[in-house]
Amino acid sequence: MLIQNYEEYQKAYEASVQDPEGFWAEIAANNFEWKKPWTKVLDWNFKEPKIQWFVGGKLNITENCLDRHVRDKPHQPAIIWEPNDPGEDSITLTYRQLFDRVCSFANVLKRNGVKKGDRVCIYMPMIPELAIATLACARIGAIHSVVFGGFSASSIADRINDSQCVAVITTDGAVRGNKSIPMKDTVDDALIGCPTVKKVIVATRTRTPVSMIKGRDVWWEEEVKFVNSDCPAEEMDSEDPLFILYTSGSTGKPKGVVHTCGGYMVYTAYTFMNVFQYKPGMIHFCTADIGWITGHSYIVYGPLACGAISLMFEGVPTYPDAGRFWEIVEKHRVNILYTAPTAIRSLMGFGTEYVEGKDLSSLKILGSVGEPINEEAWHWYSKNIGKDNCPVVDTWWQTETGGILISALAGITPLKPAWASLPLPGVQMLLVDENGKEITGGNVSGNLCIKFPWPATIRTTWGDHERCRTNYFAAYPNLYFTGDGAMRDENGFYRITGRVDDVLNVSGHRIGTAEVENAINMHTGVVESAVVGYPHDIKGQGIYAYVICESHANDLELTRKDILATVSRVIGPIAKPDKIQFVSGLPKTRSGKIMRRILRKIAEGETANLGDTSTLLDPNVVEEIKNGAQQMR
Ligand code: PRX
Repeated sequence: MLIQNYEEYQKAYEASVQDPEGFWAEIAANNFEWKKPWTKVLDWNFKEPKIQWFVGGKLNITENCLDRHVRDKPHQPAIIWEPNDPGEDSITLTYRQLFDRVCSFANVLKRNGVKKGDRVCIYMPMIPELAIATLACARIGAIHSVVFGGFSASSIADRINDSQCVAVITTDGAVRGNKSIPMKDTVDDALIGCPTVKKVIVATRTRTPVSMIKGRDVWWEEEVKFVNSDCPAEEMDSEDPLFILYTSGSTGKPKGVVHTCGGYMVYTAYTFMNVFQYKPGMIHFCTADIGWITGHSYIVYGPLACGAISLMFEGVPTYPDAGRFWEIVEKHRVNILYTAPTAIRSLMGFGTEYVEGKDLSSLKILGSVGEPINEEAWHWYSKNIGKDNCPVVDTWWQTETGGILISALAGITPLKPAWASLPLPGVQMLLVDENGKEITGGNVSGNLCIKFPWPATIRTTWGDHERCRTNYFAAYPNLYFTGDGAMRDENGFYRITGRVDDVLNVSGHRIGTAEVENAINMHTGVVESAVVGYPHDIKGQGIYAYVICESHANDLELTRKDILATVSRVIGPIAKPDKIQFVSGLPKTRSGKIMRRILRKIAEGETANLGDTSTLLDPNVVEEIKNGAQQMR
């Protein structure tokens, strides 16, 4: 499975295009354990869409992530956990220990009535129990829906109701940096509106007092006393859903992206091994949260399917100080560090004093994910962290793609700072113009599409297949449209320029402008709002909100704070606007459509050339907004 040099990459790529079925069948057959072989490698059309890999194949992903490694290397660490507080002990779970804990917790789920096919919401901080809970669901064939620990009660409730979860797994509280977060309280608030949830399993983390509802709420630690660790893996169809993960799109409602057992397993393991050139014994530290796709694919499933050592970190990069990542690298002798440009830019701002004196000599490979990495950050990362001795792989992908699609293979394919570079084997990218016509050649730019399925392609959006079609497969016939724009150079390297739809990327988090607008509009006194992104030095993009208030709102400073509180409560603190500008009107066309292009330019500070404003209902409003924006600077 491991590509060892550039020539092999070229050969693999060629083979994957000539005969995709043969290419993936060989990888799937030779590197994984199947309970029953598939009858057909691939069945697909992008029209419906219908995408099925390893059709008829039976497996359980946890047997591939756990059982086989327990046989081969029971005492090798599977997960190393580093707590928020550096004074607390870290925890190592060997494959044997992880296996036992997953199996006992799987029995706890069964004991609490969770069955194959049921949806289970997991709302937890980055503690080992989070990985255990996801794997335990997979063990019994329950579909997990992990909700990032920073989301609000109302976001949790929306997600639970959309997929009708029967159980929630959470903790009493959480600690992140110097903040303590009341997880169970938030779940309790969410559950007021979630009739399908019958059980809440609470793991202890902070010993904060919580209310435990009789008949519904049980303690993790108590429940495991009633079960043993013998839990045979449920036989799953290759195309049975493994998990749902909600992500933002251009409408106000997050979509439940569905990934299935077989293809997702093969693809995450293959990409993990090749992009990071993983060799046995290496320690891989992905700084993402398991609440996002990066954590699903490159903390849990990809690494464990490869029998790797995966380090998970509970805290934040700046606690207790801006040297925390480097301390962790030194302490655990990390070999692969996979983080986000926003973290790099933020740590860069603290200077090199926090890096100096730390022994980073164990590092071999650096990775970046989540948003475009600017050249300055790329070079800082490469020089100060990699000591100019570690390839930096810029990995482009999405929740919907399940795994990395465009990236260098560390040390194997050439690097080009700020360019994600070449598509991985099996990935057939193309650029198209507005009309869907392919743009060929080098030094061109266009909308980034894919013409053939890869094993971890999104299968559907939970409960609404049509939404999956219209979102990804309808813009251009027979193509998957990523929503991103990109450039391609004369060597076929890609550079992602960012979203071309109404989706923002704030500190690597995907947020829909419509979602933020809906939240702002819920605030009493707000008449209308329009949200756009603007370049932000650290976050990549910041959130800029133009808000029209009712005329009697005279204490605008207080209203501003109230709006922030409302957004926090409706979505979560990550969606709070960085800037709010109060306006008396919005630039609209005669048909009532908001001209976001103009608002974006004003937010970016580019007011000189706003383009044609003659079609606006009231062109004067633009002058007012421009002046207001200047005053805010
Ligand atoms: O715009 C691209 C950006 O993040 C989007 C996907 O977000 P999400 O589904 O939350 O997944 C993030 C982690 C995979 C993409 O549409 N993006 C992701 N990685 C990169 C990137 N943009 C530029 N370069 C990247 N390496």
